[in-house]
Amino acid sequence: MTNLTLLIDKLNTNQTLTKEEWTALISGRSESLAEYLFSLAREKRHHYYGHDVYIRGLIEFTNYCKNDCLYCGIRKSNRNANRYRLSKEEILSCCHAGYNLGFRTFVLQGGEDGYYTNERTCGIIQSIRKDFPDCAITLSIGEKNWESYQKFYEAGANRYLLRHETYNHLHYAKLHPPSLTAQTRQQCLWDLKNIGYQVGTGFMVGSPYQTAEHLAEDMLFIKELNPQMIGIGPFIPHHDTPFAKETSGTLELTLFMLGLLRLMLPKILLPATTALGTIHPQGRELGILAGANVVMPNLSPTDVRKNYMLYDNKLSTGIEAAECRTELEERMKSIGYQVVTARGDSLN
Ligand code: 5AD
Repeated sequence: MTNLTLLIDKLNTNQTLTKEEWTALISGRSESLAEYLFSLAREKRHHYYGHDVYIRGLIEFTNYCKNDCLYCGIRKSNRNANRYRLSKEEILSCCHAGYNLGFRTFVLQGGEDGYYTNERTCGIIQSIRKDFPDCAITLSIGEKNWESYQKFYEAGANRYLLRHETYNHLHYAKLHPPSLTAQTRQQCLWDLKNIGYQVGTGFMVGSPYQTAEHLAEDMLFIKELNPQMIGIGPFIPHHDTPFAKETSGTLELTLFMLGLLRLMLPKILLPATTALGTIHPQGRELGILAGANVVMPNLSPTDVRKNYMLYDNKLSTGIEAAECRTELEERMKSIGYQVVTARGDSLN
């Protein structure tokens, strides 16, 4: 216990941990250690970002996907998924509604859908850029080549989210079809960084076959990549996937990892994700109290939300819904935080 407290103190004073130290910390964690971690994580977060909570409007614009990730509900071979795509006009109307609700970042997320060619994607980005010059445009549309990433950047996109999912190559192979590799995934992140995007990576907590060593490797990779954003959430099974019978990641481990991320990279933009809100009714609040400082409510047209089912019971109403901004504000206020209308750029 004392040993592990010392490791947290090391992190808190900006020292690096070895893989063995990360593994010991993660596998030896306890409730009291977590409380200690969260209090330091909050201190760091308050130092850099005060009590502000940044909001991002999430527009899930297509659930077509050419990939077949074993965990994901919109995987190609899920015949039961109700597929949809939004037109440029529909996407713009989501942005207009979002702007009026106080959103200054729009996140365009979708499956890897060939319908959205470089031309179409750039057309959408340029239109948003023209209508909303004061907003950040974040893309979350998967693996592309350098040239595509470059074109999207030139069209006006500022940020890109691409979770590495798990650093360990063998573990990655157990979660994905052979056509997808950890190496390509990680190369995409380096490309995005080199082009100039503010980059977000991240991983699922408690995905099948995951060990504390894997999480330790995730921490080392993130430290090296030094991204601006990190999205993590518990793995949650989807009934139409090969992982239907696997167990979910826990609230407790996800919160612990959030706290560790805040201490390791104090200036990081760290969302309390929808998956966290899905496994526990107070998941979002607990995430904020563990060091998170971002929430990403859903701005998609309400009739398509139920079709973007990455995992079972994924929330899209209540505080997950952009139109419920007041409720979100109240819930954040109840734990001492305030939702702000700002782009919320990273400090690093
Ligand atoms: N449980 C939790 N998170 C999931 N994602 C996809 N499927 C699941 C699931 N079953 C996450 C992945 C992806 C992000 C958009 O959603 O980490 O990068």
